Amino acid sequence: MSNIECETYEQHFESLRNFINASLSDYLGIDNSQLQPVGEAMAYSVEIGGKRIRPILTLEFCRMCGGNIIDAIPFACAIEMIHTYSLIHDDLPSMDNDDFRRGKESCHKKFGEANAILAGDALLTYAFQIASDAGVTPGIALRSIRTLSNYAGIYGMIGGQNLDLQNETSNNVTLDRIKFTHKLKTGALIRCACELGCTIAGATNEQFVAAREYAENFGIAFQIVDDILDVTGNPEELGKNVGVDAENNKTTYVTLLGLEGAKVLAKEHTEKALKALDAFEKNEYLKEATLKALSRHN
Ligand code: IPE
Ligand code: IPE
Ligand code: MG
Ligand code: MG
Ligand code: MG
Repeated sequence: MSNIECETYEQHFESLRNFINASLSDYLGIDNSQLQPVGEAMAYSVEIGGKRIRPILTLEFCRMCGGNIIDAIPFACAIEMIHTYSLIHDDLPSMDNDDFRRGKESCHKKFGEANAILAGDALLTYAFQIASDAGVTPGIALRSIRTLSNYAGIYGMIGGQNLDLQNETSNNVTLDRIKFTHKLKTGALIRCACELGCTIAGATNEQFVAAREYAENFGIAFQIVDDILDVTGNPEELGKNVGVDAENNKTTYVTLLGLEGAKVLAKEHTEKALKALDAFEKNEYLKEATLKALSRHN
């Protein structure tokens, strides 16, 4: 990673992803047989796959703000654990009822529903333990833990999942309502990831404002593309089932605007996200990845 200027953006993100994956595996080597099968279920859901977008954002914002990415690793792992917990619970029969995740059986399908609930709970809690143990100053640790709890909870991702469930039974889901739902259910953890990177690097207020502007727009674009892929995607490539939103009677940008309208909106939000990155030096890799995320297949 020392010679990053010579790397392509793919190589750069691949090396970040490898660093994140190795660190996650270290944290998740829960080898006490008495803590199984929940320990195994936690490691399974984290390690079967995932693009690692959120932890990459944490490391990348840290780097762009002049910080040391080694300091950011515990927080990057914490956000990936919280994200994975959200997916385990999102797939449960009482929520989206999805048996396929990250190219493999969902956690509840493989380990049973009770173990999947506990694995999700344990990943959420473990994230805060890891963040508390990070080798940063108490001030940075406190601010980061506050950021994680705010964006993971009722004012963030859980608040968005609440709206998402309410939207299934409401017959008056407006565009504003969908935007607010996306902003929370997906945008919040993406904002969290970017802000964590800024906090660890000791970013300026101006950089925080730009990171939020980036994350808000990228988060909405990311969920719009997720909704598009639920209609047009290939389950093999995507690693999850398609048509789940329709099965669950979800109103999405696609149902409100059609595929083309949703694509236009995703592009608009991506352009705003790219503009926000102008506030950072060494933004080339993230600009390229942000643009590529619009045409992703998984
Ligand atoms: C899926 O997130 C759920 C959403 C919030 C759209 P990702 O598309 O980042 O899923 P993984 O982590 O790569 O599996
Ligand atoms: C999930 O949104 C967002 C979360 C907070 C987990 P979706 O329900 O659209 O995610 P997928 O399509 O199952 O990955
Ligand atoms: Mg869902
Ligand atoms: Mg789902
Ligand atoms: Mg989806």
